[in-house]
Amino acid sequence: MVLNQMRLINYRNYEDASPIFTPGFNIIYGDNGQGKTNLLESIFLLLRGYSHRASSTKELIKFGEKTMFAALEFRDQDTTHNVSLKAENGKKGWKLDSKSESSFSKIQKLTGCILFEPNDLEIVKGGPDNRRRFINMELSGLIPPYKGYYRQFERVRLQRNALLKQAKLNNTPFDELRNSLRPWDNQLVQNAAKIYNLRNRYLKQLTNKSEKFYRGLVSPDEKLGLKYVTNIFDSEIPKDVNEISSVYKQVLESELENDLERGFTRKGPHSDDLEILVNDQNARLFASQGQQRTAAISLKLAHIDLYKENLNFLPVVLLDDILSELDINRQRNILSVLEGTQTFITCTNPSFSSHLKNEVNKIHISDGVIK
Ligand SMILES: Nc1ncnc2c1ncn2[C@@H]1O[C@H](COP(=O)(O)OP(=O)(O)O)[C@@H](O)[C@H]1O
Ligand SMILES: [Mg+2]
Repeated sequence: MVLNQMRLINYRNYEDASPIFTPGFNIIYGDNGQGKTNLLESIFLLLRGYSHRASSTKELIKFGEKTMFAALEFRDQDTTHNVSLKAENGKKGWKLDSKSESSFSKIQKLTGCILFEPNDLEIVKGGPDNRRRFINMELSGLIPPYKGYYRQFERVRLQRNALLKQAKLNNTPFDELRNSLRPWDNQLVQNAAKIYNLRNRYLKQLTNKSEKFYRGLVSPDEKLGLKYVTNIFDSEIPKDVNEISSVYKQVLESELENDLERGFTRKGPHSDDLEILVNDQNARLFASQGQQRTAAISLKLAHIDLYKENLNFLPVVLLDDILSELDINRQRNILSVLEGTQTFITCTNPSFSSHLKNEVNKIHISDGVIK
């Protein structure tokens, strides 16, 4: 997909802006605090259906205003589409090609974007919740039904936890608890099996592509690897959904006493982890800062190929403030990989773009005004 242009009205610090994009590199530059990340955020919002940095849509409305409007025109092979979001006092309205959409799901099928920002280093450096968030976020973008399964799983898990807590408090007999949990457990297992099945396929592809990416960025002898960490299955996640279901069901049963004691459901896709390995060692503990950064970038940019192979189109790439932290060689390698993919790069100094071969569109931003 390729973005043509957009319109922002009372979005964050933009009063009324109409940036125009090129299919190649779009370099968004300006001093700190001028609105560069806000612009990337608005692109992410219109392509993914939510903001990566706001917890409520209200934050997106310009201070002192009541409504916000953001619209994006993009091309998908030969068809041009328009997606827009209007937000006012707690309500939001999506439109696709001038038709109102009650949810983002139809738009999600047409769009894809990959965002990389400084915080994403935490995928490699931080605790397991960062890696779970990464998997959930990227898999939801790539395979939209995943989001629904995960949401459903979380809803049921929280219900189950509430029942466990209540049972502990009331000293409910064990058999009675087991009976009342049965319908919840069935739903939990069903959704977990779908989640595991999609994660399994996804992580196989991701391992393959990110490893290739990493080699290309660093050197052919350096190796990136991924290992899914779960205490549900003896070795790998089974291929067969029914087998996943029956194993997880057994785990829930054998853990019930412990879960009751703790008052929550410990084991499942919500507590798994992903080990990231550089040269066969845990990158979180042993990799250098440079290796960690390259590993994180590789994990993200590998999704270009995943979109291509699974959905038959290229996503757009958003790089927020990350080039300046890389040495010249890695910068060049990354930019050469991105040739052919529409890319948005924010920075304070756009001088690196002078050696780019492709068409470059420079957008200067000062206090929410585009020049
Ligand atoms: N809802 C809002 N209304 C008006 N201004 C906002 C809003 N949210 C953030 N801002 C302003 O946006 C600016 C930060 O923009 P940002 O895109 O993060 O800057 P940068 O160019 O450094 O990436 C700050 O000055 C902040 O006050
Ligand atoms: Mg910024």
